[in-house]
Amino acid sequence: TGNSGMEHLIFVINQLQDACASSGTSIRIDLPQIAVVGSQSAGKSSVLENFVGRDFLPRGSGIVTRRPLILQLMNYQTEYAEFGHIRGKKFVNFDEVRREIEVETDRLTGQNKGISNVPITLRVYSPQVLNLTLVDLPGMTKVAVGDQPPDIEQQADPSGSRTIGVLTKLDLMDAGTDARDVLENRFLPLRRGYVGVVNRSQKDVDGRKDISSAMAAERKFFLGHPAYRHMAERMGTAHLQRCLNQQLVGHIRDTLPTLRAALQSRLTELEAEHRAFGGLDPDDPNAKAKIMA
Ligand code: GDP
Ligand code: NA
Ligand code: MG
Repeated sequence: TGNSGMEHLIFVINQLQDACASSGTSIRIDLPQIAVVGSQSAGKSSVLENFVGRDFLPRGSGIVTRRPLILQLMNYQTEYAEFGHIRGKKFVNFDEVRREIEVETDRLTGQNKGISNVPITLRVYSPQVLNLTLVDLPGMTKVAVGDQPPDIEQQADPSGSRTIGVLTKLDLMDAGTDARDVLENRFLPLRRGYVGVVNRSQKDVDGRKDISSAMAAERKFFLGHPAYRHMAERMGTAHLQRCLNQQLVGHIRDTLPTLRAALQSRLTELEAEHRAFGGLDPDDPNAKAKIMA
């Protein structure tokens, strides 16, 4: 199958994962999740919001993200969001999504701005997104805050081999300075390199600048900047999203044989169970007893 077949497969696997979780089936399908780590106010929530193209995350200065958010993006014809803790309720208004995140955060952490490690799960269906699972984490602080493990930075990816570096706030650098050395992977090399992004500033957000104009401005920034112009195609939010999606597709391709074998053996088990019940009259009291056992 080509890439669109792969895309569809990610969708099917997500649905399957859900079906397994809600039916209590033992099979576990491990999909990689992409964790967004970085210091407080570095722009983590902004990066995620740009992927969705909607304002829906509590965002700003200080520790705004106080519970991990598992964000499952699902490419779909219509746009709506659904929370793991309120299954079946479709949110079409993203202001309501933000309010629900705030309420659900406070429910566990209290209003004293504590931090909890119990994640909130949010699934966003949209024609605009690529299939990805992302985890927004409370900012890493040099001193562990609340329930944050002291070694949170180490837990993320000790070898650095699975990390894509994302450099935010390139627009705020002093005139005459640039991050070319980092972005060209020379300063602190990472196996998967770096992508630079420009998110909306607080002023943009307060002025209700929408995300599509922000992304157009981002593109203009890279094309117009003398230090970044030559690599503009490898910079920006849209490129980052494609990189992450490629990584996910690659991972699924690698784990497909194992997954197929696990599903096949579960299917064989279910078929055997089915045969064991086959031919029984449902009104036969013995059959009932057997099903209830
Ligand atoms: P988080 O704490 O890492 O989740 O950071 P947020 O996404 O909440 O962003 C913190 C603040 O920085 C917000 O006011 C954002 O508008 C602002 N911000 C984030 N990224 C950028 C950027 O690339 N450029 C500018 N100018 N501001 C940014
Ligand atoms: Na913040
Ligand atoms: Mg945040």
